[in-house]
Amino acid sequence: MLEKVNQLKEEIEQLKATSAEQAEALRIKYLGQKGIVKTLFQEFKEVDKEVKKQVGAPLNQLKNQIQEKINALKLSFENQLSKAENTEDLTKPALELPSGSQHPISIVRNQIQQIFTCMGFSISEGPELEDDWHNFTALNFPPEHPARDMQDTFFIKDKPEYSLRTHTSSVQVRVMQNNTPPMRTISPGRVFRNEAISARSHCFFHQVEGLYIDKHVSFADLKKTMLDFAQQMFGKDTQIRLRPSYFPFTEPSAEMDISCFICDQKGCNICKHSGWVEILGCGMIDPNVLKNCGIDSEKYSGYAFGMGIERITMLKYQINDIRLFYENDTRFLSQFTSA
Ligand code: DAH
Repeated sequence: MLEKVNQLKEEIEQLKATSAEQAEALRIKYLGQKGIVKTLFQEFKEVDKEVKKQVGAPLNQLKNQIQEKINALKLSFENQLSKAENTEDLTKPALELPSGSQHPISIVRNQIQQIFTCMGFSISEGPELEDDWHNFTALNFPPEHPARDMQDTFFIKDKPEYSLRTHTSSVQVRVMQNNTPPMRTISPGRVFRNEAISARSHCFFHQVEGLYIDKHVSFADLKKTMLDFAQQMFGKDTQIRLRPSYFPFTEPSAEMDISCFICDQKGCNICKHSGWVEILGCGMIDPNVLKNCGIDSEKYSGYAFGMGIERITMLKYQINDIRLFYENDTRFLSQFTSA
């Protein structure tokens, strides 16, 4: 019997398990109800005294050895398990937090501001709720001008002399009233028009107004400034074309087109196969406007221009529905990143 016990001791030393289940199977094999150890102890009862003396201590040692071995095997799998649960690599960089992006209108407004401030223009702002004088009268709008019509202007109930400004040209008036020439400024801001909402027009949008007043300012200055702007905004090969037009506050007035950068003037849907797309209105400030704002029109002259930021953004990014700008759909907005 002693031999058997010693043999088992060696066997136990070599015991290995490759999984927690195997370790459990070994426990049952050696320490279970019908296991090897139990059987040995039963045999032990039967042997005579002399043998008992010899085998007693080794048999108990064997039992302890088996117990320790199996516990150790089980523990190693428990450790491995908890390691597996903690496989997170703590040195890994944190997950990226979703962050917002700049609105395309803000991106383009900033670009416009950047271009003009580099040319020496300052930035001026004015109120969105404007009185009739700043929005229309000072800008030489005759009393019967259709822009004053209920259809275009949001008037304020019970206060007919106030309306939401229909253009940022009203800021021009304020700048002229409060400064002495020379002055060179742009006025970005939101404007409002009582128009039906569609893919092409909205009841509010954004404009940038520009103004330069000094001695001897000529149409050539306007033209060169507009060319520089267009080339910085749409690419250095961009050409401009000025078409005679009419605005109450400028004389002469023009509408400015840029050469179509989408089709390279070969003709496309955007330029309606003309090779040119309109982007702004401009002209020499009407002497009446200068006078209305307290500037000596004999001494000073100036130019002004006004553009819609939505229009420029739609062209730049080829967006075909103005409503997308105001729907706050992140699938649309997240596509824009400022350069
Ligand atoms: N105020 C005009 C509009 O809203 C845009 C404009 C045209 C502004 C010509 C100007 C200008 O300063 O010279 O349509």
